[in-house]
Amino acid sequence: MIQTITELASLRERVRGWKQAGLRVGFVPTMGNLHAGHQSLVRLARERADRVVASVFVNPTQFGPGEDYERYPRTVDADLSALEEAGADAMWLPSVETMYPYGMGGVVEIRAPGVTGVLEGAHRPGHFDGVTTVVARLFNQVQADVAVFGRKDYQQLAVIRYMVRDLAFPVELVAAPIVREADGLAMSSRNQYLSPTDRQTATAIHRALQAARDAAGAGTPLRTVEHDAAAQLTAAGFAVDYVATRHRDLSAADSDAAGPLVALAAARLGSTRLIDNLEFER
Ligand code: PAF
Repeated sequence: MIQTITELASLRERVRGWKQAGLRVGFVPTMGNLHAGHQSLVRLARERADRVVASVFVNPTQFGPGEDYERYPRTVDADLSALEEAGADAMWLPSVETMYPYGMGGVVEIRAPGVTGVLEGAHRPGHFDGVTTVVARLFNQVQADVAVFGRKDYQQLAVIRYMVRDLAFPVELVAAPIVREADGLAMSSRNQYLSPTDRQTATAIHRALQAARDAAGAGTPLRTVEHDAAAQLTAAGFAVDYVATRHRDLSAADSDAAGPLVALAAARLGSTRLIDNLEFER
């Protein structure tokens, strides 16, 4: 049966016990409000480890001013059931004080230069500093052998990879596939902010990326592909932050670039910001 752990000493004792018994520990970091996408991360962690800890922590340092920190849905009881159903052994539920014991003015920050200045990083200044700052703490707290992150947050994964390598965290990273609704919309806790009409419109983001992939595959220059996909989203009613095609390591891709690529999009419907991506070969 799944256990809720709120004290760092209890978490350490539990994980130490597992490790002393020779068990491999998996970790899935989340901000709660769990859906089938999160559950797929837990199931993947289960395949790679003997015991699985999932954290639920809405991290204040990764939200910018005016973003949705306050209204981000907190659904701990439902999260516990979702984690248990997916096979997690423990829900790590730290308080803000446990995570940031010196208060918000005394946070030791972790920053990953290079990968954080573009795309999401350019549109959400400071966001990835908050992500690395909290994930470094979570890694130190949980001491897992393997951690699972979803590919939907494509750049987040690149940023975490960078940090793990740079700080030599002894953790294996596993990237999990995007889980989509039947109509193609990537699952996200933020989808529930959408009005019924916007929820219909939101499916355009995956279609635009599919069209981008197909056009790129047919030889259309990548800058044209990006422009056309952004125009498609604008016509559907989105305010587009970016549509970009890049190499898989997120380095800039020339218009005629070939090989493994990824198309990424971020766009807003009203006050709801959606991101998605699609890997393709050219
Ligand atoms: O992807 C998320 O839900 C968050 O960015 C993470 C990794 C849990 C850090 O707060």
